Amino acid sequence: MWENGLTKLLKIKYPIIQAPMAGGVTSSELVAGVSNTGGLGMIGAGYMSPDQMQNQIREIRQLTDKPIGVNLFLPSNYTANEEKLHKAKALLQSVKEKFNIEKEPVLPAHEQDIKTFNEQLNIIIEEKVPICSFTFGLPSPEVVVKMREFGIIMIGTATTVQEALMNEKAGMNAVVVQGSEAGGHRGTFHTEEKHSLIGLMSLIPQVADRINLPLIAAGGIMDGRGIMAAKCLGAVGVQMGTAFLVCEESGANTLHKEAIINASEEEVILTKAFSGKMARGLNNTFIEEMSRYEDVFPEYPLQNELTKEIRKASAANGTTEYMSLWSGQSPRIAKKLTVRELMNNIVMDVEKTRGSL
Ligand SMILES: Cc1cc2nc3c(=O)[nH]c(=O)nc-3n(C[C@H](O)[C@H](O)[C@H](O)COP(=O)(O)O)c2cc1C
Repeated sequence: MWENGLTKLLKIKYPIIQAPMAGGVTSSELVAGVSNTGGLGMIGAGYMSPDQMQNQIREIRQLTDKPIGVNLFLPSNYTANEEKLHKAKALLQSVKEKFNIEKEPVLPAHEQDIKTFNEQLNIIIEEKVPICSFTFGLPSPEVVVKMREFGIIMIGTATTVQEALMNEKAGMNAVVVQGSEAGGHRGTFHTEEKHSLIGLMSLIPQVADRINLPLIAAGGIMDGRGIMAAKCLGAVGVQMGTAFLVCEESGANTLHKEAIINASEEEVILTKAFSGKMARGLNNTFIEEMSRYEDVFPEYPLQNELTKEIRKASAANGTTEYMSLWSGQSPRIAKKLTVRELMNNIVMDVEKTRGSL
């Protein structure tokens, strides 16, 4: 009952993908744990240096011989607006003082981001990683040709029908359809952010009617019920973030895990305050204090760098109030489990739900 086009494409038993979660969540134990239990473990390599990424791939290979994937961020083209940077720094100064942060942020450079991205691609090829997914944009035709040449399966991300069509045209083998429920950053790259907030219930069937790629549903899915619903709407697989983030093996900060476990859906909001790009997570003091300045802040990834030390200091000081607590809209279903327990529960749930349908 589990085998379908996606499981065959990815050579996995269950069409369950552990969402790549950049920023230290996707520990080697988490990724290998998911792959070893029949799903697909993915490294969130968005913020990694090529070396860090290579080391982790090798470490995971010691823990599993099953397929794994790597997720990359397409480098965004941004302009460093001096006035915005100046204003943002001034607005963040009081928070920096609260945590005695003296370190000045090192701003990223677009050329360097492109170089890093290309080096990451080369490592994926060199290490023979079978699956590579992308967010925040589409790889160039040259990259697609090169990856295809090495037999690497490519998965794109879409938040609207238009973006899904663009993924299909670009030559992706499958596409993650990210609903507005999803935790973390929006993968939106073409549509205006405010017009890209489509719930999964609406998005999946509208995409399914128009494209022929295997669809992977993402956003708010935590258990078998979510998987069955996504399948009924036209998806052949799911990508789950928050459910895996709270697992024992995940590398997320314990404060982050606890905050999700104790949260209600009403606390989950969208913000641009941490990074300059819209993302979903738990509300806290930083978001409340900064919400009215969202349009003043420089765009991603500049704002992300400006707030980096603040987020770190908040965690180091044991407070969640200035951390980015990314979470999808279903925190009440999050459970502290091992990966094996979560995977077993999902499989049993689906079999049960299927029977009752
Ligand atoms: C902490 C966190 C980090 C994330 N980082 C990434 C990432 O690096 N790349 C990516 O494609 N998606 C990322 N996502 C989004 C997921 O791929 C997925 O869309 C989302 O987790 C689905 O919603 P859910 O959390 O309710 O399951 C992240 C999500 C979370 C919660």
